[in-house]
Amino acid sequence: ETESTSFRIGFSQAMTTDNWRKQMNRSMQVEASLHPGLQLEIKDAQNDVQRQIEQIESLIEQGVDVLIVSPIQSQPITPVIEKAMNTGIPTIVIDRKIEGSNYTSYIGADNVEIGKNAANFILSHSNGEIEVVEITGLKGSSPAYERSEGFASVIQNANEVKLASQIRGDWEKASVKKQLENILDSIKTPDFIFAHNDRMALGAWEVARSRNLEDDIKIIGVDGLFGPSGGIQLVKEGLLTATILYPTGGGEAIKLADRILSGENVPKNNILSTVIIDSVNVDIMQNQFNRINQQQYDIEKQQEIIGQQLATYRSQSILIKVMIGL
Ligand code: FRU
Repeated sequence: ETESTSFRIGFSQAMTTDNWRKQMNRSMQVEASLHPGLQLEIKDAQNDVQRQIEQIESLIEQGVDVLIVSPIQSQPITPVIEKAMNTGIPTIVIDRKIEGSNYTSYIGADNVEIGKNAANFILSHSNGEIEVVEITGLKGSSPAYERSEGFASVIQNANEVKLASQIRGDWEKASVKKQLENILDSIKTPDFIFAHNDRMALGAWEVARSRNLEDDIKIIGVDGLFGPSGGIQLVKEGLLTATILYPTGGGEAIKLADRILSGENVPKNNILSTVIIDSVNVDIMQNQFNRINQQQYDIEKQQEIIGQQLATYRSQSILIKVMIGL
């Protein structure tokens, strides 16, 4: 048997409780399975910064050939990535950023642009004075501060729009309820809510619904996941007025790792494109994702079959060796 060169990619994932991150892992695994020389190991930090640091340290110690990290928060994860870089491990940062520029490559959509898109959508779908509430993601995680920055940069210049209140969420639905209840008790019903992701947007809708305000408040989220209770479905059902696609970049990150391993010089910033999904294009988007999803599923099925055939082949060849006395 000949040994083919194989490379090890270690991925430190912030957490895997939500479908967006499950999809990111899945698309990495599918892409990795298409490169026979690549082995992918995923470590789940379970949204615990200390655990993420330790897991990255252990990947450094194992001497992975490429490290991929989706940092929970920017600042606390910066030093350990610096450590990986100093050890000579090329490091790809995905989705959430670190501080500074001591990494090999970043991949993800432009979150400032996402914030701007949300604000421009609101501007183009309203006339007269309007009030908005913003629900942010976890403090210190870059998509949260970048989405806010982009959103504010447009709102500040629009006299007709007032940011009535800002709620600090943590990316999860549970962080929204109580705070939004309090705000709806204290201010006039807002025209729009911009939540930094679809999970929190759904939380906002549930609060609005419990007060029979679901037709009065238009809610915009981010992610635009395909599948049951994903953003696309929520737009289709009219719970969300719009969602902004935030591609996970999982497959692209593995492709990037593969290029680095082939000795290619890769761009420092790899920006994935985003798009607003509303009632106008939701069906087209759903069809597209249906096809992509079917392809992923087919690839997974084929990999499974190949795996079974390999296992059969191995056991048969052992049997033959035994029979012919090797
Ligand atoms: C998934 C998630 C997404 C959000 C992204 C930001 O864990 O919360 O909903 O867009 O992380 O990094």
